[in-house]
Amino acid sequence: MDTAKQRNIETFTRMAETYGGYYSDAEQARLGAMAERVGFGEGSWLVDFGMGTGTSAKPFLAAGGNVVGLDLTPAMAVRGRERLREWGLEANARYVMANAHDAPLAAGAADAAICRHTFHHLEDPKKVFAEMARAVRPGGHVFLIDYHYPDEEEEREKIEELDRVREPTITRHLSGKEMEGLFYAEGIRVEETVVDRTDTPFDDWMDLAKTSPDVFPKLRAAFEALRDQGGSWYEESGEGAEFSVIRKRLTILGQKPD
Ligand SMILES: C[S@@+](CC[C@H](N)C(=O)[O-])C[C@H]1O[C@@H](n2cnc3c(N)ncnc32)[C@H](O)[C@@H]1O
Repeated sequence: MDTAKQRNIETFTRMAETYGGYYSDAEQARLGAMAERVGFGEGSWLVDFGMGTGTSAKPFLAAGGNVVGLDLTPAMAVRGRERLREWGLEANARYVMANAHDAPLAAGAADAAICRHTFHHLEDPKKVFAEMARAVRPGGHVFLIDYHYPDEEEEREKIEELDRVREPTITRHLSGKEMEGLFYAEGIRVEETVVDRTDTPFDDWMDLAKTSPDVFPKLRAAFEALRDQGGSWYEESGEGAEFSVIRKRLTILGQKPD
């Protein structure tokens, strides 16, 4: 088994029980509206690459569509099924335990594909994006959502190095340009890009990672130093229990040509 795959399964098995509880209503509403705009609804099929505990699939199921979720980590699927039941949305959702790099799907089988918050964990994001593009029918849509990093490589690496201490599964955090470049490389037309900001109290953010608490004080000092130098890509703010980190998330919606 390759190491990224192994690390993902270990990490997400640890995180599964509490994963996904911090999904904002605003993001949910935005994704739901995007799904509606592209005509996704009853009878439509979405493939969710790295479906996790179902957060990314929820607005598409709520719109009346069907979802096939690919994931590597059984514990995430178990927790996901519980959440889908709690939401009353389990009837049209299926999990398939499979590697997103090699999706067990016929070309053009889906009306849409999504991957949310997963690209920075992947061995080969280009390959997974190619699989998303392949899975979608001509005229279908691709949604890519992830925290994104600065285009300037030195700054990108500096933030990534800190993030990797918190979350060792990170392979590469793509810049906005790199994320958009994936669409052009596969001939998917970019229709819409949205940047939003998620403000997470530092202690909660550390807690969510379920990594060793030994690293938290070191990381906190490093992020406070960035704030004191005048702020960084993350825009750290506040003091004491109010110290928080604002992360930037990019959503890109594209369409496969007819
Ligand atoms: C950060 S979670 C995101 C889950 C969900 N998309 C969401 O928005 O909440 C990443 C998920 O991707 C899965 N994953 C990581 N690498 C994968 C791969 N190569 N193939 C399939 N799933 C993968 C993990 O098991 C985990 O459930």
